[in-house]
Amino acid sequence: MEIRSIRGMNDILPEDAIKWKWVRDVMHEVLERYGFREILIPVLEETRLFQRGIGETTDIVEKEMYTFEDRSGQSLTLRPEATASIVRAYIQHYLFKTGKIEKYYFWGPMFRYERPQKGRYRQFYQIDVEAFGSNAPSLDADIIASLYDFLTALRVPQVTIELNSLGCPKCRPAYHKALKAYFSDKQSALCPDCKTRLVRNPLRILDCKVETCHELALNAPTIHEFLCEDCQNHFRHVRNYLEDLAIPYRLNPLMVRGLDYYVRTTFEAVSENLGAQSAVAGGGRYDGLVRQLGGPDIPGIGYAMGMERLIMILQDSLNTLSWPCDIFIATLGEKALHLGISLASKLRRMHQVCEFSYEPKSLKAQMKLANRLGARFSVIIGENEIQGKSIVIRNMETREQMFLPLDDRLSEKILALLEETP
Ligand code: HAM
Repeated sequence: MEIRSIRGMNDILPEDAIKWKWVRDVMHEVLERYGFREILIPVLEETRLFQRGIGETTDIVEKEMYTFEDRSGQSLTLRPEATASIVRAYIQHYLFKTGKIEKYYFWGPMFRYERPQKGRYRQFYQIDVEAFGSNAPSLDADIIASLYDFLTALRVPQVTIELNSLGCPKCRPAYHKALKAYFSDKQSALCPDCKTRLVRNPLRILDCKVETCHELALNAPTIHEFLCEDCQNHFRHVRNYLEDLAIPYRLNPLMVRGLDYYVRTTFEAVSENLGAQSAVAGGGRYDGLVRQLGGPDIPGIGYAMGMERLIMILQDSLNTLSWPCDIFIATLGEKALHLGISLASKLRRMHQVCEFSYEPKSLKAQMKLANRLGARFSVIIGENEIQGKSIVIRNMETREQMFLPLDDRLSEKILALLEETP
């Protein structure tokens, strides 16, 4: 029987992987400009990290984790997100002792046992950004600015930043109470999940996608009526900075995010091109998380972007990307192949993408291969060329040909030609 990949876990083939590579190139460039430094974390963590970090009443922990026991009986989980792991690394390596704001970025696969559909997979990739060590609202604005700049550099069309404040442990209990009171007498209209949410975490009802729950949520009290003075001031400053930066945003008091660690500022980047799974990125502040996971009382903020959703939005504009091939070397006969291999090796050391045919083939077949590889130029080396001590180089687009002397300076001459041809 044919063995296929697991449902919701996709192969990214080279023709798509080039688009992913381009996004990663932009990622390194834009995020490093903001002072984020790359961090690498393991795929597996102790299960309790996510239970404690993400929250027991979240969908992720309740029903979406890939959890198993290893050979020693320890419960491990394939990471469903990166924030908890990065916080763990921050604590474990005493990174809070560096005396500066620590700012990291990371790229890698995440695993959630969700129902696979367009834009939702069981293995998906996130670009994740985190910053530790300040609760200043200017950091919130800078983080959101980095997201906005990143999306702009990627030329993501029609994207909006949605913004909310979820308050803090001081002001949120009163809001919970008000939500409970509001939804209690409408219980019969709530979906079964929201009936449980009403008892365990009423905030989650605001995020429910079931139509009847969503309609009830539209008239529910908003968190903004309950924010304490500190949270109000913080939110006002964040908004003022965003206005200074001319970053367009829309307030969305219903945006609660699917993870329990958030306080104060939360945000999502949404795109109309994505349909139901409209969020391409999401994040917010998590000031209590470092302490909750056993570290000192240090605030944090960050976001994550879904690679597949990003690529889906950008699809058309990235179709022109292909793996480059600067030069193809066609050889006829064993002697020519010896020369061809050495020439390819020299050109590659000069940073040119160079290919040749490993197997003996007719000139016609080799030219076909050069076209398939998208070679800009091809060089032809045969018996006649070796005897005449000159080779033919062909511009594959214009079909123009010229001769170059077959001497020690051949690779330099080819390089010069490649560089002067647009
Ligand atoms: P999240 O909202 O769960 O946040 O995920 C962030 C992004 O990952 C989503 O906006 C979406 O683009 C993508 N994503 C999530 N689930 C899937 C899926 N099943 N298939 C495809 N894409 C998906 C977090 O993960 C937080 N850790 C973000 C964060 C970082 N908050 C603070 N720091």
